[in-house]
Amino acid sequence: MKSTGEILVIGGGVISLAIALELKRQGASVTIVTRDFTEAATHAAAGMLAPQAEQILPSPMLDLCLRSRDLYPDWTQKLEELTGLNLGYWACGILAPAYQKDAINIQSSESVWLDRATIHQRQPGLGSDVIGGWWFPQDAQVDNRSLAKALWVAVQELGVEIKTGVTVEKIVQSGDRVSHLQTSVGNWQADHYILATGAWSQTLLPIPVTPKKGQMLSVQMPDSMSLKTVLYGSDSYLVPRQDGRIIIGATSEDVGFTPGNTPFGVQNLLSAAIRLCPTLQQYPIRECWWGFRPATPDELPILGTSPYRNLTLATGHYRNGILLAPITGLLIAEFVLHQKSDALLEHFHWSRFKV
Ligand code: GLY
Repeated sequence: MKSTGEILVIGGGVISLAIALELKRQGASVTIVTRDFTEAATHAAAGMLAPQAEQILPSPMLDLCLRSRDLYPDWTQKLEELTGLNLGYWACGILAPAYQKDAINIQSSESVWLDRATIHQRQPGLGSDVIGGWWFPQDAQVDNRSLAKALWVAVQELGVEIKTGVTVEKIVQSGDRVSHLQTSVGNWQADHYILATGAWSQTLLPIPVTPKKGQMLSVQMPDSMSLKTVLYGSDSYLVPRQDGRIIIGATSEDVGFTPGNTPFGVQNLLSAAIRLCPTLQQYPIRECWWGFRPATPDELPILGTSPYRNLTLATGHYRNGILLAPITGLLIAEFVLHQKSDALLEHFHWSRFKV
């Protein structure tokens, strides 16, 4: 039996890394165990920090998302200082063009309705049937792949051990505690365990987290095209990166873990993107990819205690994993290290799904 010291975090995505980072910053001994860093939804995301554009209604979830969005500038700056990497955090705002006036009814002090003339003037190149749209000045973006890389480098820089290529096969319990993990390379034991395995969580615990596939692609903007804000359409979104790529997302499919891009998925994304911004139909396609969002029945994450006293849950972030990484890291570390349960955590407790 291998002993990994204090805390063992299961999962290799941005949630696991953000938790490990915060635990380590606060002096804990931490090991991450992951099957394959590259399969996490983290790499498939677009990196929008978009509680407003995603139309999350006033609720504990909105509070959680807003708190996390507020942490982003400082959090990414510290990561950049630690790693020397550029994370592409960009407070670019998000524009949500609409094709009909009643398409969205948003009432928030953080949003502004732009009429037809204003939106076309502000963002040249929009489809002629865009009749106006909402402007969300506080929403932002980060380059999610750079973020994942920086977190990976940062945690190791701080002394977190990462064990890759290790499949956790079973969480073995003894009474109300986890006694050890059964893995592809033998049994592992720690004082405390954190489950952050996203869409794959249900293979280890009976919690309702299921994969929701998202297909994505990217095109390359010519220098003459100036898209400097995210466009959040009804059927697709366009996320311009500072290197000239536009990330186009995303389908939302209940097909289990079926891999691959499909002609239907790519066609839908492209026709929605071209309607939103017709000029991009001539741009070279750079890449197509897909990933699996960890979805729960109420589309809210599962955070905090579990049926076992020494196992904490941080999974089910669905469409908002990148956005919620800093606040999840902070709240879970406070909870595990100091037994401080932030008032928001109770709204995301696993027991809401118990029958
Ligand atoms: N957050 C956007 C998506 O999941 O597609």
